Amino acid sequence: METEARALEGTRPVDDPAVEEKISFDKQAIPTHYDLPPAFFASFLGPWMAYSCAYFVDEDGSLERAEEDKLLLTAKKLRLKEDDCILDVGCGWGSFIFFAAEKYGCRAVGTTLSEEQARLVNTLAAERGLSDRIRADVLHVYEMDYPDASFDKIVTIGAIEHMEDLGRVFARCSALLRDDGLFLVHGMTQPWRSREETLAGIRTESDDLLEEHFGVGHWHSLWEVIEALEKNDFEVLDHENITNHYKLTVERWLERLIDGEEKIVGEITPEEKYREFIAFFASYIFSFEMNNTLCNQILCRKIKRGELRPNLPLTREHMILHSKEA
Ligand SMILES: C[S@@+](CC[C@H](N)C(=O)[O-])C[C@H]1O[C@@H](n2cnc3c(N)ncnc32)[C@H](O)[C@@H]1O
Repeated sequence: METEARALEGTRPVDDPAVEEKISFDKQAIPTHYDLPPAFFASFLGPWMAYSCAYFVDEDGSLERAEEDKLLLTAKKLRLKEDDCILDVGCGWGSFIFFAAEKYGCRAVGTTLSEEQARLVNTLAAERGLSDRIRADVLHVYEMDYPDASFDKIVTIGAIEHMEDLGRVFARCSALLRDDGLFLVHGMTQPWRSREETLAGIRTESDDLLEEHFGVGHWHSLWEVIEALEKNDFEVLDHENITNHYKLTVERWLERLIDGEEKIVGEITPEEKYREFIAFFASYIFSFEMNNTLCNQILCRKIKRGELRPNLPLTREHMILHSKEA
């Protein structure tokens, strides 16, 4: 894998005008959220800057510990090893790719639609002497133009919520993944009854709030995610429902925002944006509590009919985090 800086404008030709239109819409809408100053996100996220569900082995655990445990759990599920070549689709500020490179010696490419995020990842990689291992590209998920079969492991964490056509996304991921590779999809879904209403055009206040807050939101149901995976020849090896972990995560983000109000509003962000996040996080917590939003980790491998099945771990033991915070 080449890890030298590549042209940010690299694109995979997409010959469908409707898809082109969606790509340009996402490219202007998504960064309105993620291009906010990293200092603002740093004011409430943990030290890895993971902007997704953390993993609590203990209800009272700290965000710091839970954030790192989520990264560790993800790495364990993917059975990361030295020199694995990883693609992180929707990498944010690089939490997983830094973790994979620093703790396991992997090489990793992340994609994002935010120039700010990519700049920060590439700058931090250079500062930490990891430029030969880590790189972030500004690339829409539909445009991923890496050579086929270039990755040992592919992960997408907290990003399918922005992706409309999961069939297209997973078809590309399948092509990019080596035949013996692993693919982990971590993301929020809606229970089927809510999704059915959305598909029927019934919008709720929370749909409006979501779109306003993130620019683009697509809330699939779990079975739609699995259907799109299976239709693209992925076999689901493991599914873990982590909804309760996300409620605990957002509670901690909210606490930090409230505690930091004076500094954040005075120095980092306008009051209006600050209040929008407070309102959004409060509604998010409610949404988890009331079963309107769910969160999942789904581990897959590529399956080929008629091909000899590989040896796979017989139990889930290797992916369980046992220890509680000291
Ligand atoms: C909620 S953040 C999650 C970031 C990271 N995975 C983490 O756990 O911290 C969602 C990420 O998905 C990226 N994203 C959203 N839509 C995308 C798209 N269509 N193509 C590529 N990346 C996208 C955003 O730019 C952002 O980096």
